[in-house]
Amino acid sequence: MSRTILVLAAGQGTRMKSPLAKVLHPVLGRPMLAHLLESLAACGADRTVVVVGHQAEAVGALARSLGAETVLQTPQRGTGHALMCCKEALAAGAPGELLLVAGDVPLLPVDVLERFWSEFEASGAAAGVVSLELPDPFGYGRILRDERGRLARIVEERDAAPGERTVTEVNSGVYFLKTPSVFDSLDSIGTENSQGEVYLTDLFARLSEQGTPALLMRADDPSMWLGINSQGELARATRRLRLQVLDRWMARGVMVVDPETTWVESSVRMEGGVCLHPFVRLCGDTVLGEGVEVRAFSCLRDVVLGPGTLVKEHCVLEGTLTGGACILGPFCRTREGTVLSDRVHLGNFVETKKAILREGVKANHLSYLGDATVGEGSNIGAGTITCNYDGMHKHPTVLGEGVFVGSDTQLVAPVTVGDGAYIGAGTTVTRSIPAGALAISRAPQRNIEGWATRKKERESRGVGEPGKRESTSKRGNEPTKP
Ligand code: UD1
Ligand code: MG
Repeated sequence: MSRTILVLAAGQGTRMKSPLAKVLHPVLGRPMLAHLLESLAACGADRTVVVVGHQAEAVGALARSLGAETVLQTPQRGTGHALMCCKEALAAGAPGELLLVAGDVPLLPVDVLERFWSEFEASGAAAGVVSLELPDPFGYGRILRDERGRLARIVEERDAAPGERTVTEVNSGVYFLKTPSVFDSLDSIGTENSQGEVYLTDLFARLSEQGTPALLMRADDPSMWLGINSQGELARATRRLRLQVLDRWMARGVMVVDPETTWVESSVRMEGGVCLHPFVRLCGDTVLGEGVEVRAFSCLRDVVLGPGTLVKEHCVLEGTLTGGACILGPFCRTREGTVLSDRVHLGNFVETKKAILREGVKANHLSYLGDATVGEGSNIGAGTITCNYDGMHKHPTVLGEGVFVGSDTQLVAPVTVGDGAYIGAGTTVTRSIPAGALAISRAPQRNIEGWATRKKERESRGVGEPGKRESTSKRGNEPTKP
């Protein structure tokens, strides 16, 4: 029998009080819908269909990028109406089974789902509902059983009588249905409820009346089945997933000094011996090699760090690739296109962008290296700036091997520096420098003997204090004519 997954994701999510469609809200850095579709992929269904409506373009684009088909529900008249909109897409063809999931339940445990699906298939029931036992069932549809313990109906929070609200068994929003027969029972569902919507949950009262009640399947660990309807629930789901991801890494030998303050997105990969200090944030396609240590308050996005690399405190690294045993920070910022070979050192307040630094390059203080290539073993002095932008275009700076760049140097690109060249401190490089040369452009220094001593003497006599200054001409003459 064919297996289809249907995800309902057309609703706005009014209770989120957010301009963003609910299913696009990120859980640990990734939209809810993406988490859900990625984990459901493990169920091996023949098709996955997502019902879109609110912000259909963005939600649909995400769904399609993850291999799902989309069906448009407009306007959105409730969960039952969402399923009705799929009649054409799902009722044609041979009979099949449908796993229907609300798009706001992103952390579903797929292994349990698969077990339930087999159980449902074996039962021969017309439908199946996954239920949860929740100490605080507020907001959920309550499961009402008949005298034989079978599912009689589901009543929504807003429509429930006070006695019904005390029921702690709730509807998870995950169902197993049969196509095309489910569409026959759906047709007769009305909108007599507090929201005037077509509730999918009313289907189950209909099945019970027909003498074919849905199979109830109770999930053991409710935390994985919780829907996200508010910002608070979103934050709690994010926290749960964050701790789960960290637990997984710790089980594989990653040292997480303080899980409460560490953020590692599910897409990140790490080798053994990695150590993460408090308040570290690892995002996107970040990969940490063996023995990498990331110290407190550093934030890495789409960064690949070679083995043994040390990221000291307060670094912001993006789109960067490093070799082994590099030392970065504290307070270092690498931007997209930064490629560091082995043993490169970047110190405090060093920024790089589209910079290729070969083995052993050191730039330890206060520098900007943009659109730059620096050869092996070169040393970049404190305060070196590549002036890569002329207001219109970006230009390259190319330094050879073993170049020594003195402090406070400006390299006005495009410019090339040959192997082994020296640049004197305070130089503004505007022309290329041949290999082995010294470039120096600063003004010659003058020493004026006794100047400071005379200044002090003048001040002690009260000359030069505010309101008691000597004439401009005298002051002007004094230092230069000792
Ligand atoms: C729903 C169930 C409730 C259950 C809970 C579990 C109904 C009537 N109630 O309530 O019994 O306990 O889920 O989390 O089904 N959607 C559409 N089109 C619409 C309306 C909603 O696609 O017209 C989608 C939403 O985008 C969402 C999902 O359906 O992803 C569920 O809708 P939501 O409004 O969150 O329903 P709940 O009130 O949580
Ligand atoms: Mg919901």
